[in-house]
Parts: sequence; structure tokens; C-alpha cells
Amino acid sequence: MRRAHLIELHEQSWFPSFLRDEITDTLQCGMNRFRAYAPVVPLLQNVLDATRSPLIVDMCSGGGGPWLDLSPRLQGNARASLQILLTDKYPNLSAFQSASAASQNHIAFHSAPVDATNVPPELRGFRTMFTSFHHFRPQEARAVLQNAVDASQGIGIFEITRRAPSTIACMFLWALLPFLFTPWIRPFRWSRLLCTYVLPIIPLVLLFDGVVSCLRTYRPQELREIIAKLSATEYQWEMGERANPRGEVPIAYLIGYPRPKILTM
Ligand SMILES: C[S@@+](CC[C@H](N)C(=O)[O-])C[C@H]1O[C@@H](n2cnc3c(N)ncnc32)[C@H](O)[C@@H]1O
Repeated sequence: MRRAHLIELHEQSWFPSFLRDEITDTLQCGMNRFRAYAPVVPLLQNVLDATRSPLIVDMCSGGGGPWLDLSPRLQGNARASLQILLTDKYPNLSAFQSASAASQNHIAFHSAPVDATNVPPELRGFRTMFTSFHHFRPQEARAVLQNAVDASQGIGIFEITRRAPSTIACMFLWALLPFLFTPWIRPFRWSRLLCTYVLPIIPLVLLFDGVVSCLRTYRPQELREIIAKLSATEYQWEMGERANPRGEVPIAYLIGYPRPKILTM
């Protein structure tokens, strides 16, 4: 299956911002409720140990991504002082505020737009990106990685979507889930109930964008080609797939960080 860079509706500048927020809120709720990214905690733990970074700068955070689930797991693993900073090109501020309040101040957010290809230099910390790298065409994807390299910051990319018929089939199930958990998504909005149960725009956009996301997701060989074009001789890159012990779709990851300096006597 070749990579196809079709459009996702919620990322279009013309897409109504209130609906974009509904979509990213639903994603956030689903990812945390089903602990979709829990298998990557050991990877994050290892890289945070290697980089000794006290701050994670999450890019393309949407409604907060999986951080309400991941943050306590990392805090529990002797990283009590770890702070997470949510950022996005189109910040969903009400969701950021809600995630921050629910996290006992472990999660903070940047209110101004942050483009992942050009992160402000003052935002220093290990960069993460969940369910978002496929948004970028190869040249922009390279710019995301090069920007982290130029700032000498580590970066971790995690993707639950996959260019595989089985994952594409899962998107039909995924699009049905909002019918089950929408009343529990916070912040509560009547418009969300309307756009799910009366006019099911949210499930339909989730289905369309979910299928397109799968078709856009990079395979390991394509990631290697992107990395090969970076000017980053002193970086260490790791990539692979993290199996999900509950048998659900595996998570693909790409992690890069400055190679630790070897002290010579
Ligand atoms: C599929 S959502 C992922 C949300 C979140 N990471 C999660 O796991 O639920 C993709 C997000 O990427 C953001 N985005 C798109 N292009 C961006 C860019 N160039 N820089 C930063 N964010 C971007 C969108 O606003 C959207 O919130």
C-alpha cells in the first residue's frame, strides 16, 4: 500500500474551529480512556533518563493527547518533578485548561500557536508528538525533526495509526466509540451531543480522518529515508513498533536525541 497524502478535514484552516476542538477533545478522551499509548511509557522513561530532561514539550497536542494517562505513570516511575507543556498550531485552550486542572499542575500549556516545524527556541525540553507525524509531508516531517536537532532537543514520535488494512478496519470501530463516551467528555458542551447524536458530524469526521491518517502514516523505511537527509551527525535514532499487550494495534515510534558525550581521560 503506497503512502497517500490526502487531506484530513480537521486540519484544514477552513474547518470550523469549534468542530476541530470537538474532534481533538474526542481523540483525547478516547486515547486516555483506552490507555492507547501506555505501552510507550518504558520508552519515554528510558529517553528521559538518557536526556535528563525535566520538561516535555508536546507538539500537536490537540485536546491534550494521551497525557492525562501517561503523566501519572511517568510521575509514579520516580519522575515526580516532570512537567508537560502542551502546544499546538491551533491551541484548544479550553481542553488545555481542563487537562492542566485535572493533572494537579503537572501539565501546563502554551497559549500562543506553536508550529511543530518551527518551535520557539525558549521552549526547551524533550519534544513529543502523538498521532500527528502523519500530518506532515516528507519535507515538513524532515523540518519537524531538523528543528529539534537544530535546537539540540530530543524528540519522540508515536503513531497508533498504520498503513495496514486491519488498522483501517479498526477506524470504523473507533468512529462508533463517541456514541458510547461522548457525555463524559470534558469540558461538557451541548453542541458535542448535538454533533454526535443528532447530526453525527463528529463520528463521520473521525472516520474519514482516521482512514486518511492510516493512509498517510510513514513506514519504518520511509522514516529512515527522512532521517538520512537530516544534518545530525551527533544524534542517536531508535525506531520500531511497541506491541500492545492487550492485543490491540501496535504503536510505531521514532526517538532521537543528542548522542551522549563520551568523556576521554
Ligand atoms: C490528530 S490531532 C492529534 C492530537 C493529539 N496529539 C492527540 O493525540 O490526541 C493533530 C493536531 O495537530 C495539530 N497541527 C496540525 N499541523 C500542525 C503544525 N504544523 N504544528 C503544530 N500543530 C499542528 C492540529 O491542530 C491538531 O490538534
